[in-house]
Amino acid sequence: MEAATEFVVESPDVIYSPETIEAQYEYRTTSVSREGGILKVRPTSTRFTFRTARQVPRLGVMLVGWGGNNGSTLTAAVLANRLRLSWPTRTGLKEANYYGSLTQAGTVSLGLDAEGKEVFVPFSSLLPMVAPDDLVFDGWDISSLNLAEAMRRAQVLDWGLQEQLWPHMEAMRPRPSVYIPEFIAANQSARADNVIPGTRAQQLEQIRRDIRDFRSSAGLDKVIVLWTANTERFCEVIPGLNDTAENLLRTIQLGLEVSPSTLFAVASILEGCAFLNGSPQNTLVPGALELAWQRRVFVGGDDFKSGQTKVKSVLVDFLIGSGLKTMSIVSYNHLGNNDGQNLSAPPQFRSKEVSKSSVVDDMVHSNPVLYSPGEQPDHCVVIKYVPYVGDSKRALDEYTSELMLGGTNTLVLHNTCEDSLLAAPIMLDLALLTELCQRVSFCTDIDPDPQSFHPVLSLLGFLFKAPLAPPGSPVVNALFRQRSCIENILRACVGLPPQNHMLLEHKME
Ligand code: NAI
Repeated sequence: MEAATEFVVESPDVIYSPETIEAQYEYRTTSVSREGGILKVRPTSTRFTFRTARQVPRLGVMLVGWGGNNGSTLTAAVLANRLRLSWPTRTGLKEANYYGSLTQAGTVSLGLDAEGKEVFVPFSSLLPMVAPDDLVFDGWDISSLNLAEAMRRAQVLDWGLQEQLWPHMEAMRPRPSVYIPEFIAANQSARADNVIPGTRAQQLEQIRRDIRDFRSSAGLDKVIVLWTANTERFCEVIPGLNDTAENLLRTIQLGLEVSPSTLFAVASILEGCAFLNGSPQNTLVPGALELAWQRRVFVGGDDFKSGQTKVKSVLVDFLIGSGLKTMSIVSYNHLGNNDGQNLSAPPQFRSKEVSKSSVVDDMVHSNPVLYSPGEQPDHCVVIKYVPYVGDSKRALDEYTSELMLGGTNTLVLHNTCEDSLLAAPIMLDLALLTELCQRVSFCTDIDPDPQSFHPVLSLLGFLFKAPLAPPGSPVVNALFRQRSCIENILRACVGLPPQNHMLLEHKME
């Protein structure tokens, strides 16, 4: 039986009109103060009105690094689903699906039915969202291979699927991109046969023209730009160079140091398109963040949270949340795709190391019973390039925690999977959730002017290894806190209370 996916909230606080869903929502939280050595906790309540536009736009996604493993795999996945493809493999016939996507393959509980059973619906049915099959792709790559050839180079998909997709992907050609050799590994230079010439200012203008061209030629309502190109080295944040929006724009005009990814971020923001950074480097320097703030354009990052880090943000949450004192986390990776080759150069590895390392900070800080101020577990990350394993990434982790009375618990994990098949559904969720957030506005009883979410879209934290948050906001890495955040905000938009898992109905006599 096909699960029902549509639902209506019957409540005086929720009004459905043809254009919007409007929900009155009581946001109940607490504020804490320290008074005379005692923590005073006061429940607070703020009345929100959430308004979500119901009209789903025609959405275009521009991928920087379109011809890479992630870019070609995501494009192939959407085509395979749209065309309802199936293909034979040695273990039987496989059919296209969106496994790994929170919005497409995750569910939420709406509540209990008359028999006391929980009723689940797909995550995507919480609010009107763009259907992934309707996405239109375009993008840039410093490598000129068309998307069919790029898919073959990536060696991610079964041959039978590649053959069927080939004619649909052959005509897709990445637009030339900005290549600045010192930002990615020297081993990438052979790929760079598709580059935008000229000064930084001219390159910026060309990217902006590309976005406008795609929007008009494909008849799109909206475009979102997603960086899935190679990991760059970090760029130094220097006062006068990239610390403010004004300085960053001047730096580009003068041709001073700016990374390709920051150029793309600036171009997107200036075109009013959300920009999402799937790699670890600090693309969104303070000047880019200020520009996003000034223009009220969403930005999100950094670095897709796909495999090892995702597990880490569950496992360490479980360990510390259970009261065990994790003292050492050691992570080895080896992979043989082009990403792995790029990461074999020290400055690019360093970007990844930084992004992978901050992932347990919030969990450690949340537990002053176990950790004294400043105390941290040892945390070591190693990445090696082993060409033979291709896109099939291996991650080996060891977690050592202290038990009561001097005991020790060591957990060892070995994870093998196709890296790009984990990343592609995350890219999809990023585009769909960002677009949805663009249609949500809200006001409160204290501030009746309608507003949008903060331009640094921290709601996307579930999907990023090193989530960006607005200045001064706590960074949350724990995976199920991140998932609850998305789920509960979407529930609020349809006037549903946060999911509290209390199931009190089943705890009464
Ligand atoms: P890839 O190396 O296969 O693809 C990157 C593509 O970017 C290549 O086609 C390359 O030619 C292109 N490129 C490099 N510099 C460019 C520029 N300036 N402009 C336009 N194109 C450019 O790598 P893959 O596996 O697709 O990963 C992409 C990024 O996503 C990497 O930075 C990786 O670290 C990051 N990432 C991947 C995850 C995964 O599970 N696959 C998880 C987290 C992050």
